[in-house]
Amino acid sequence: METYDLNSNLAEDIVWDSDIKPLVSDLPDNVRDIWLYGFTEMLNNAIDHSSGQAVIVQLQRTAIDTQIIINDDGEGIFKKIQRELQLHDERHAVLELAKGKLTTDPDRHTGQGIFFTSRMFDEFAILSGSIYFSHEFNKAEDWILERDGFKSGTTVFMKLNNNTSRTSKQVFDSFSSGDDYAFTKTVVPVRLAQYGNERLVSRSQAKRLLAGVDKFKVVVFDFAGVDAIGQAFSDEVFRVFKKQHPEMQVMSLNANRDVAQMIRRAESTDT
Ligand SMILES: Nc1ncnc2c1ncn2[C@@H]1O[C@H](COP(=O)(O)OP(=O)(O)OP(=O)(O)O)[C@@H](O)[C@H]1O
Ligand SMILES: [Mg+2]
Repeated sequence: METYDLNSNLAEDIVWDSDIKPLVSDLPDNVRDIWLYGFTEMLNNAIDHSSGQAVIVQLQRTAIDTQIIINDDGEGIFKKIQRELQLHDERHAVLELAKGKLTTDPDRHTGQGIFFTSRMFDEFAILSGSIYFSHEFNKAEDWILERDGFKSGTTVFMKLNNNTSRTSKQVFDSFSSGDDYAFTKTVVPVRLAQYGNERLVSRSQAKRLLAGVDKFKVVVFDFAGVDAIGQAFSDEVFRVFKKQHPEMQVMSLNANRDVAQMIRRAESTDT
């Protein structure tokens, strides 16, 4: 465990070279590459976005896997995004992050770090304020939890099997469309637009889901964990939005029978 001063011109690549790389140097190249990407992106975020004073890095390695926790004492990621995007609810920040290409500093950043890091590791989680967001590679569902406690700053957790065959290139390639290898495709976990027992029925919920996704050529709405959707919600996404964006490919994934039926109904409505 090491603490770094965020006011001291801290550079993520130097911390990587001197303190982290030596602890993972014997791992296969593809595994080390993923750690290089994830660690430097998440430490860069603490340096560039947190407005904190210090960051604590913890690495734990077993025979099976390695985990790293990066914890800053800044404003808190969800709170910052909520403030900058003027979102009604801090939980909406999680949905915005999951869409990708979200940055509060477009002159210096592109909003790729968390999108790709969260999809490269076996487990990825962010804890900040009273919100816990988690993404696991082998699980279809993302989840967001409201905790009782409050944790200031931002804590990022990453875990990866020491012998995974995954490569960072595979992950980047799965979010490009066509052959330009650009970040042109996103997969949006629809479940993150749904809070508690609330059902996805309204056009305003649909608009929240759709905000900003026109930055992509291809958007896949992942319905894992969503039991049902209402007619107006479905119409807004699969008819109105599609009609407004004929250049985009809008698709769905993991829709159960009821959801799939609602989608088909919207897509086949002529107006
Ligand atoms: N540790 C943090 N503290 C506060 N806000 C953060 C933190 N990390 C990320 N953020 C917020 O989340 C946004 C998205 O982060 P992400 O790493 O995905 O993109 P980015 O850093 O803006 O761009 P890129 O990673 O492509 O350089 C940031 O723009 C910032 O607003
Ligand atoms: Mg970043």
